[in-house]
Amino acid sequence: EMSAEERAFQEKIDAGIKIEAKDWMPEGYRRTLIRQISQHAHSEIVGQLPEGNWVTRAPSLKRKAILLAKIQDEAGHGLYLYSAAETLGVTRDQVYADLLSGKVKYSSIFNYPTTNWADIGTIGWLVDGAAIMNQIPLCRCSYGPYSRAMVRVCKEESFHQRQGYDLVMAMAKGTPEQKAMAQDALNRWWWPALMMFGPSDGESVHSAQSMQWKIKILSNDELRQKFVDQTVPQAEYLGLTIPDPELKWNEDTGHYDFGAIDWEEFRQVVAGNGPCNRDRLRTRVKAWDDGKWFRDALLAHAEKKSERQVA
Ligand code: ACO
Repeated sequence: EMSAEERAFQEKIDAGIKIEAKDWMPEGYRRTLIRQISQHAHSEIVGQLPEGNWVTRAPSLKRKAILLAKIQDEAGHGLYLYSAAETLGVTRDQVYADLLSGKVKYSSIFNYPTTNWADIGTIGWLVDGAAIMNQIPLCRCSYGPYSRAMVRVCKEESFHQRQGYDLVMAMAKGTPEQKAMAQDALNRWWWPALMMFGPSDGESVHSAQSMQWKIKILSNDELRQKFVDQTVPQAEYLGLTIPDPELKWNEDTGHYDFGAIDWEEFRQVVAGNGPCNRDRLRTRVKAWDDGKWFRDALLAHAEKKSERQVA
């Protein structure tokens, strides 16, 4: 049964009052937020890697500048999110160490390779599109620092989605070869993008509690359906085919019906066995190790400065 404190806490949430860092909160609420926000932060950071792969090969100065700006935005999102996690009493170093040791997850989607240039547009269109779908409701979540971070993140994600759609449009309306590249990218990214929303509601272990606490506003399946409904007309406009023979408009429900997701693939990727999991973690570990001299130098410099001030 709920304690008096827990009851008062739940009433605050039900009344739409934000919880702030120094307010009392149940340990489970704190742990759930640390888990979700740190996984989210790690996703932003690891998410730079599939796109970084194409910076040196972007086909024009304009596309390269857009891609660089987008990747830098992702780093910024990671930083806001690590800061939001720190308001809950963990340090960024602890949280980051859990990524590097493989203890804490990041989004499944970033374990797939970017094999042709159209992948970059498709990631913006589908992956950032799915991210916005999930994050717009999070702007209204009950934890103040997380909800406020989401406002800015969503503005930037919406630019990412648009630049992606613009890129895919250029290719879909380009030469037959370019259009084929865009179709190939859609074929490979469609199903993994649907998996971003997480297991179906019946399998989602955290959903019920997280929805009660308004850490989650919409369920995994609700968000996935909204994403499908939004994206099908966009694919039609591009003249591309979504790789799902069962995809069909349903007059009765007012939604698109779609085929079954391969949950075994999802489980494998989340368990560390996706096409790029090992490579992604290795790259992050190497970046951390390679940066050691710089972190050491910053600390030594700060110490020297504070000694000088004391003297
Ligand atoms: N990739 C990896 N792991 C996932 C994914 C996914 N796509 N979806 C769910 N999981 C994990 C959950 O983290 C949870 O594992 P855990 O208990 O070890 O933490 C487990 O699968 C069960 O899933 P749920 O009970 O549904 O988990 P939850 O309530 O946390 O919902 C969701 C998952 C929707 C991803 C939620 O955490 C969320 O909204 N997170 C914030 C958004 C985010 O992280 N986006 C990252 C991708 S977008 C981007 O970064 C650009």
